[in-house]
Amino acid sequence: MSTAARLTVIGNEKGGAGKSTIAMHLAASLLHAGLTVAVLDLDLRQQSLGRFLANRRTWAEANGAELRMPSLLELEGEPAELSALPFEAALAALDARLAPARAEVDHIIIDTPGADTALSRAAHARADLIITPLNDSFVDFDMLGQVNPVTLELTKPSLYSETVWESRKQRMVRERASIDWLVLRNRLATTEARNRRRLDERVEALSRRVGFRVGPGLRDRVIYRELFPFGLTVADLSATVRPVDVSLSHIAARQELRALMAATNLLAEPALAAPALRRTGT
Ligand SMILES: Nc1ncnc2c1ncn2[C@@H]1O[C@H](COP(=O)(O)OP(=O)(O)OP(=O)(O)O)[C@@H](O)[C@H]1O
Ligand SMILES: [Mg+2]
Repeated sequence: MSTAARLTVIGNEKGGAGKSTIAMHLAASLLHAGLTVAVLDLDLRQQSLGRFLANRRTWAEANGAELRMPSLLELEGEPAELSALPFEAALAALDARLAPARAEVDHIIIDTPGADTALSRAAHARADLIITPLNDSFVDFDMLGQVNPVTLELTKPSLYSETVWESRKQRMVRERASIDWLVLRNRLATTEARNRRRLDERVEALSRRVGFRVGPGLRDRVIYRELFPFGLTVADLSATVRPVDVSLSHIAARQELRALMAATNLLAEPALAAPALRRTGT
């Protein structure tokens, strides 16, 4: 049991960047490393994490599998009321829920909506670590930084970078603590090398300008989405937990996830304590 859980916020105001996918994989990876985890979903409409956990429980029961579960934190109040809270009230509501959990688990993971909400800002202001998945596209990069349309040179940070900047300021003023920010490319395509290189350069330039670390990305793989109905992730697959045939792509995905976890610095041991995975299909 921990006395001060580490708080990780998965954020990007751009919808569909892979926040919920990363949140689930992060939670499962930490659980497999023997750590205790609580999750909070601030996407009050989609509630992807709640659905994921319900699927996980049902699948484990139906298959007689022992699966580690994170605890699910929920804020007091109706979604409509919570969505309407101004920043200070949102911070108070969040703190009220986080306070008991902080003493009970090693890690708290907060998933946020693809929009700028007071609750999401409050979570960012409390984060030890912010993880931002970024789709492999200039449309998505635009939330982080703007580029010159002629030269594609970085011109300035944009909306979401400013949100994180504000959060860092808030955290420094209120708690005299800093926030680590890790940006990860997601859904990388096998082709499109030229687009990727251009984007890589802009991400690197922006990282120096606004101060984030760039982590290894995840490729676009069916396995990252097909396990959701079972409440499972790549980190859970083993000889007994195998709802789909294991392919080489799954083994590569496991390696990507391991590299991602190493970049978060959340595990004392760099290697995932996950069971061996043997290929059964293609
Ligand atoms: N690496 C990946 N490979 C394949 N599919 C992915 C990958 N990452 C995410 N997806 C899929 O992309 C879609 C968007 O991902 P996800 O829901 O995690 O994004 P999000 O940022 O949480 O979206 P929102 O802003 O709507 O909450 C989902 O269908 C998800 O299964
Ligand atoms: Mg989501």
